[in-house]
Amino acid sequence: MKQIRPIAFIAALFLSLLCQAQEMIRISTSDHEMVMAAFNDGPVHFVYWGEKVQGDAFPFQPGKNQPDTQDDITPRIYPSYGGRHYLTPALRLTHSDGVLTTDLVYAGHTVNVLDENRKETVISLKDRIYPVTVSVRYLAYQKENVVAQSVTLSHSEPSPVVVESVASSFIPFHADSYWLTHFNGTWAYEMQLEEERLTHGQKVIESKKGVRATQSENPSFILSLDGPLAEDSGEVYAGALAWSGNYRLVFELDETGHLGVTSGINPFASELILEPGKCLETPQMILSYSPSGAGQLSRNMHDWARRYGMTHGDMLHPVLLNSWEGAYFTFDEKTITDMIDKAASAGVEMFVLDDGWFGNRHPRNGDNAGLGDWQVNRKKLPHGIDHLADHAVSKGMKFGIWIEPEMVNPDSDLAHKHPEWIVRSGEREVLTMRNQWLLDLTNPEVQDFIVKTFDEVLGQSDNISYVKWDANRHVDNVGSTYLPADRQSHFWYEYVRGLYDVYERIRAKHPDIMIQLCSSGGGRLDYGALKYHDEFWASDNTNALDRIYIQHSTNLLFPAIATGSHVSTSPNHQTGMLIPLKFRFDVAMGGRLGLELQPSSLVGEEYDFACKAITVYKDFVRPLVQLGDLYRLESPYSGTGWSSHMHVAKDKSEAVMFAYCMKYNGRTTYFSTRLKGLEPESVYKVEEINEGSVPAFPAGTMTCTGDYLMKVGLQLRINKPFSSCILKFSKIQCSDSQ
Ligand code: DGJ
Repeated sequence: MKQIRPIAFIAALFLSLLCQAQEMIRISTSDHEMVMAAFNDGPVHFVYWGEKVQGDAFPFQPGKNQPDTQDDITPRIYPSYGGRHYLTPALRLTHSDGVLTTDLVYAGHTVNVLDENRKETVISLKDRIYPVTVSVRYLAYQKENVVAQSVTLSHSEPSPVVVESVASSFIPFHADSYWLTHFNGTWAYEMQLEEERLTHGQKVIESKKGVRATQSENPSFILSLDGPLAEDSGEVYAGALAWSGNYRLVFELDETGHLGVTSGINPFASELILEPGKCLETPQMILSYSPSGAGQLSRNMHDWARRYGMTHGDMLHPVLLNSWEGAYFTFDEKTITDMIDKAASAGVEMFVLDDGWFGNRHPRNGDNAGLGDWQVNRKKLPHGIDHLADHAVSKGMKFGIWIEPEMVNPDSDLAHKHPEWIVRSGEREVLTMRNQWLLDLTNPEVQDFIVKTFDEVLGQSDNISYVKWDANRHVDNVGSTYLPADRQSHFWYEYVRGLYDVYERIRAKHPDIMIQLCSSGGGRLDYGALKYHDEFWASDNTNALDRIYIQHSTNLLFPAIATGSHVSTSPNHQTGMLIPLKFRFDVAMGGRLGLELQPSSLVGEEYDFACKAITVYKDFVRPLVQLGDLYRLESPYSGTGWSSHMHVAKDKSEAVMFAYCMKYNGRTTYFSTRLKGLEPESVYKVEEINEGSVPAFPAGTMTCTGDYLMKVGLQLRINKPFSSCILKFSKIQCSDSQ
């Protein structure tokens, strides 16, 4: 990134006359830093974000001869609406006397070392005239090279201030060109990667859906400067908003050549009335930088996520069988115990009972009834959940269960008992989506109900170790009977705050329970929610071919350990596609492996293959995929028809490589790739694992240096659609090499 350049000459003169002191505030991680220039009673400018600059000196360069019609030549760290700021402001307030503008100046900063890895810098800004304070907080994670930015707003005006918009972060860039990678999609097609060169004007990525907010766009991005995103070169920046509701990311390229990126909760229909003395906190924007392409950026984010952005990110996650595609709503006790028995014999470590286990007066035999009535369906499961959980444990497995506690079917006891808990827009019809309504989480009674539901569901058995938390609709006809008439626009913010309060309470009480984050698949994939969860269900699309794309894009910013990835049946239920079992396993092993099928359908050679594949995953692949470093070798978006990536142990002693053929490649072509992330001087043994009937690694077992593998590379025989290969790399002592 170029240094943020010139401030207007007149402005510079003005500053040098008026600003007595200036301070360069350097917010650093192990390898990178952000630098701000603060002027006493003047602006705080965002000066630099990139590799660490050596030495103590970091002179501020006043701007060149720019006309005084534009305030943004040297951008501020947190632009507010007013003065000559014509672009999207990070902050827009209506003051208590009706004044629409805000002018923020430096009011000091503090630096706190929270522990050996986290350093917090808080820059305080205040309005020149109004008693409004904005604290911009940068939490720098040293080892991971990640900075989490958030803002706290407060005031002591005589009466409330209306917060029209309040972003989590504003980051300015200056380069010759800007290339934005973002992720769009829909149900069963989440996280489709798109890259575009930004042109003048605005590009906005947002959600107004409130719940299931990431189904069509994810609140995250990767920005590459001066050229398209490359894996191992180029200056690249990532941002991921930790917020599970409406969000807005604005990319605005102005006439000075600057790109401003403003990220935060979506201000749409969301004015917040802030009482004097109260604080408003924004969500965190998780930011990272790499001078060497997307690969390092992903590894930064993954390391950060495993340590700070998810629950139990340092523990190996179990191989599980989820009942959904194998049984849907149609099961009885025997169906489930048979599934458990077969899964246990195949080496599966956990059984998860999905939708359909509850509701008596309104039995949950389809998606049209029962949501809200979280009592076991005695007709289907006469001996209760305890019986099933005990059965799983008796087979050496763990047991998990599905809930969707924010929702209610009109056909349920709960809907009849508490119509006032349902999100509604005054007298308008309450629209259903997937036959269900949404509970109003702004209401503390609803929050209590959800916490109680969670407790009661777990209370059914001491042997429940996992909960799949689903959310299958978004908000329409917004409104709350709990919020007062003049606070209806608080709904969007308060819903998410209510959800996070609930998560906090649940996590405080049940720290060891594994919780999966699901919202019709990847509809709630953000770091605000993931923090409370062990993993997410990336998509309801279990078709291995589509999963290659979904997992590739997802794992740009979210780690493989948290990416639930299941082998389902063939033909696939979503796409009808026929895909061999090996390919399905090879793709699912790239994440947290699971099964999503009726295990009794696995017979003969297929059953034997599944047992072997699960063993290979547990014995070798799992620790690397879940706790190692990801290196992408060939993107599925490259157009070659191949896709490949590898995971390397932190100590470089072992690695696993996956390669997939996604379309027919001519008989004379072949897939070859260079490896990454190994120790050049070490000798590795290379062998194929999880082989199919035809070996894909023609060289057979091979011994060579990391240098050879990274310079010469390997050739694989994977030319036909749905042929695939997994290679194992193990470092050997030099004396063992041949
Ligand atoms: C949507 C989820 O994504 C599925 O995995 C499944 O749990 C269904 N809901 C159940 O209704």
